[in-house]
Amino acid sequence: MLIKELAASASPLNEQQVHKLTQVAAELSATQLAWVSGYFYGISQHTGDTVALAPVANAQPAGKLTIIYASQTGNAKGVAEALHAQSQAAGIAVTLYNAADYKVRNLKKETHVLIVASTDGEGEAPDDAIEFHKELKAGKAGKLDGVHYGVIGLGDSSYEFFCQTGKDFDEYLSKAGAKPLLARLDADVDYDADCESWSQEAVALVKEALAEEQPTTANVIPLTQGAASLYNKKNPFVAELLTNQKITGRDSDRDVRHFEISLEGSDLTYQPGDSLGIWFSNDEQLVDALLAQTGVDAASLVTVDNEQITIREALIHHYELTQGYASFVQSYAELTDAPSLRALLEDKAALREYCANHQILDIANQHAGQLTAEQLQASLRRLTPRLYSIASSQAEVEDEVHLTVGVVRFDKDGEARTGGASGYLTDRLAEGSSVRVYIEKNDNFRLPTNDETPIIMIGPGTGIAPFRAFMQERDERGASGDNWLFFGNPHFTQDFLYQLEWQRYVKSGLLSKISLAFSRDQQEKVYVQHKLREQGGEVFAWLERGAHIYVCGDANQMAKDVHQTLIELIAEHGNKSQEQAEEYLDALRSAKRYQRDVY
Ligand SMILES: Cc1cc2nc3c(=O)[nH]c(=O)nc-3n(C[C@H](O)[C@H](O)[C@H](O)COP(=O)(O)OP(=O)(O)OC[C@H]3O[C@@H](n4cnc5c(N)ncnc54)[C@H](O)[C@@H]3O)c2cc1C
Ligand SMILES: Cc1cc2nc3c(=O)[nH]c(=O)nc-3n(C[C@H](O)[C@H](O)[C@H](O)COP(=O)(O)O)c2cc1C
Repeated sequence: MLIKELAASASPLNEQQVHKLTQVAAELSATQLAWVSGYFYGISQHTGDTVALAPVANAQPAGKLTIIYASQTGNAKGVAEALHAQSQAAGIAVTLYNAADYKVRNLKKETHVLIVASTDGEGEAPDDAIEFHKELKAGKAGKLDGVHYGVIGLGDSSYEFFCQTGKDFDEYLSKAGAKPLLARLDADVDYDADCESWSQEAVALVKEALAEEQPTTANVIPLTQGAASLYNKKNPFVAELLTNQKITGRDSDRDVRHFEISLEGSDLTYQPGDSLGIWFSNDEQLVDALLAQTGVDAASLVTVDNEQITIREALIHHYELTQGYASFVQSYAELTDAPSLRALLEDKAALREYCANHQILDIANQHAGQLTAEQLQASLRRLTPRLYSIASSQAEVEDEVHLTVGVVRFDKDGEARTGGASGYLTDRLAEGSSVRVYIEKNDNFRLPTNDETPIIMIGPGTGIAPFRAFMQERDERGASGDNWLFFGNPHFTQDFLYQLEWQRYVKSGLLSKISLAFSRDQQEKVYVQHKLREQGGEVFAWLERGAHIYVCGDANQMAKDVHQTLIELIAEHGNKSQEQAEEYLDALRSAKRYQRDVY
């Protein structure tokens, strides 16, 4: 929206605020407007304190700061953007880059570099940063004696290779002679507070270092990103849940839901490929059971974000109870002196397996112990929102957003359990009630800009979600490129998600080809990778004529098997060695023609 078109009805500001903002904006140049937007964003990211407005002209030091992020699902990008805004607000000349857009050989020209990198796969760099990682590892940066750097690694301590990409970057930069400005941060799933304090320290150190150099008359480098929405992960939009519909059959052993949520009244927009972040609260019964099991009085007061609330409220709204995690096992083992948990902590693989199968209450049930409210609170990590691939296009559904959610549902020792967010959406949120949401952009999963380009979509299970969005978008755009869908699930009659819509698209010609793998409808299991292999010649022919290939869904098995199958079919039908086939697929990935949204 242009500032001159800003109206109180279309923004969260009142008439008077709109008037003032329009007046100020009218006096500013494009560069000044960009700087001001960064400044305000910086303020919005600070908790309570105001940010000093640094003078702009003639106050820039000679050196500059470069921030590079490597992000698969947007967390590292968000941290890097906040760091960028804080640096701008501190008067530092700073540029923000996606690792995909940054040439490793330019590192030697830098003075100060901060990297924020998540880890994907099993200790691997996010897709966008694979090239950057490879070149840095191979020493292509040369000597970096004049570079000062800092690294934040984002990860999940339940993985074997915790924050590996951040650790790699730290090692490679240090090997090349660069000097650490401050110690690397390895941040776990609830990374906000740690990243915030690391960023403050890093910005202060960079500012101090640059101030020692000669000031110049350099201008402020404007923000590289477009105007941010008012609503984001930290400030979610309170949306209305319109529809909760089960889309698997009565006899299916899976509960998959189609949700429709209204974004009306927000300024949120999204593109096919983006995800929706959902904040949720925990099941009250689960909270009560945990309090009873640990002997904690529900009315005990604890402090959360500088506010005193009961431990019961804290557990419902602020702490992670439906996942198992290593830091809880560690604290709980120490507090209750449970020898079997202590033994588990010595074996990382066994611990990971245990956490994947036990929620917090299960751990407490299996190892009885009495805690105080403070001990329980201190051993839990903060609740984090869950992401869902968006299953709709705004070209078709306008201010709605649709999701396809597989409900995590299982029995533990005779008690029914659900996943935190999927249970909340499905069982505890009535249609018409409110849900806190935000958009997580994903530029690593985009339709080709050329509407004539053919696409191959591989999305078994809930991996189908973004492809529904892709087809709605291509339909609305009248895109002429061929579309081929690979879908799979256990049974045709029970689990064919959005069956009627796909049949309609086949009939209209929008969907040129559909290949289905219903794994349990015959004796031997058939999965999408088998269908892909069967159709190998044609898949390769599509790739040769420029097709983009997309994979969405299960990261543990499916995405790996599909990747291997692609290499095999490229080798076979392209007459290539295994190595050449891998290079072919790597080249597709670098050209953004092989994109994955896996979880
Ligand atoms: C980019 C991205 C896109 C995604 N898109 C989608 C999507 O489109 N659709 C979709 O459905 N999901 C999607 N997901 C996954 C989604 O974000 C959640 O991880 C998923 O819904 C589970 O979250 P939950 O809060 O319901 O469960 P959680 O609260 O995370 O519960 C999971 C936990 O339950 C326990 N557990 C699970 N099963 C068992 C069992 N059988 N026995 C014992 N314990 C068990 C384990 O401790 C496990 O850690 C996506 C994820 C990402 C990162
Ligand atoms: C498919 C997948 C694989 C992951 N692999 C690892 C891993 O090997 N090590 C790790 O520390 N974290 C791992 N993580 C956790 C992410 O690094 C963590 O969620 C991070 O906050 C994501 O940041 P991003 O949104 O910037 O990509 C993985 C997450 C996913 C979804």
